Amino acid sequence: MKHLCSLLCLLLLALPMSGKERTIKPGQIWPDAAGNHINAHGGGVLFHKGYYYWYGEHKAEKTSSALVGVTCYRSKDLVNWTYCGVALQVEDQVGSDIEKGCTLERPKVIYCPRTGKFVMWFHLELKGHGYAAARAAVAVADKPTGPFLYLRSGRVNPYCWPADWSEADRACADTLQAAHFGQWWTEPWRKAVAQGLFVKRDFNGGQMARDMTLYVDDDGRAYHIFSSEENLTLQVAELSDDFTYHTGRYWRIAPGGQNEAPAIFKHEGRYWLITSGCTGWDPNEARLFTSKSLLGPWEQLPSPCVGPNAKLTFGGQSTFILPVQGKLGAFIFMADIWRPKHPIDARYIWLPITFKDNVPVVEWRDEWVPEEVFE
Ligand code: GAL
Repeated sequence: MKHLCSLLCLLLLALPMSGKERTIKPGQIWPDAAGNHINAHGGGVLFHKGYYYWYGEHKAEKTSSALVGVTCYRSKDLVNWTYCGVALQVEDQVGSDIEKGCTLERPKVIYCPRTGKFVMWFHLELKGHGYAAARAAVAVADKPTGPFLYLRSGRVNPYCWPADWSEADRACADTLQAAHFGQWWTEPWRKAVAQGLFVKRDFNGGQMARDMTLYVDDDGRAYHIFSSEENLTLQVAELSDDFTYHTGRYWRIAPGGQNEAPAIFKHEGRYWLITSGCTGWDPNEARLFTSKSLLGPWEQLPSPCVGPNAKLTFGGQSTFILPVQGKLGAFIFMADIWRPKHPIDARYIWLPITFKDNVPVVEWRDEWVPEEVFE
């Protein structure tokens, strides 16, 4: 007994010395195991064989362009993260799609059981071309930490109309000419956007793809959800069995609604989508959508955010919703507080999602302990 007591005392003493943190402090510096502020922005988290893997954009001191690539961190408890290196490296080769200096944003990784590969999709803009390319890019790896092999990038689903459009919808969109709508934001322009003005404009070359996330549904089908049509409309596009191609089937969410930064989860048979408006690096009010099917129709509800600065999503922009393993109904809302003048100092907002009358709520907390909140 005496021995047992001494052993327990020793264990208790050792706990704080192990350096394990228990709290998440939204908006503050988040040191990894080596003491460096985590550098994985616009990220996503994959759970695989007992570990969470956090992938994100490596940000430099002075530029938001990609000088390194996609970083990867690993954790068992969601609080303490170990840096696992660069999962996807930008390339030195001039003219490469992912040449150093390109814009590489919002990487997300899913695991494909059919192929045994880890599949990363991200938003890619070519070096020196601002945000004009609006491409989706894909890379694969054999291990969660990479190295990821870059496969290809491009616009999405060329020569395809939205899957749920009728003959009449297609015929209507087919008559729309972007050249006839030189002036944006007019009533006729808005109507044309909703009817697919930009779907038609980009029909041959493929749909634009910027802010994005991935989602694997209960039946194992994977979907790519992204801001398209000049950031006016979100599209949900089905991925192939190996998760590395688009199948040509896609659906639109909130046409003309200007949604970015999509983050999605499913709870009790309902899909919930949190997005932002389009104000670049500046925060705006989060939006909440819900649907019984990933393919729509979606209904918009008021912002889920509650607390100080909730009107501006606490100064952040949504990026991912993390399902906590083994805990039914436990989700973490992930957002980024961007620092465009000092990108490496951008911060993370991780907050638990609670439910009020079955509707998700994201309430601000200065700090919180996942193992207490999700006990
Ligand atoms: C945001 C977007 C970010 C980044 C930024 C550039 O709206 O969500 O991922 O693209 O614009 O201004």
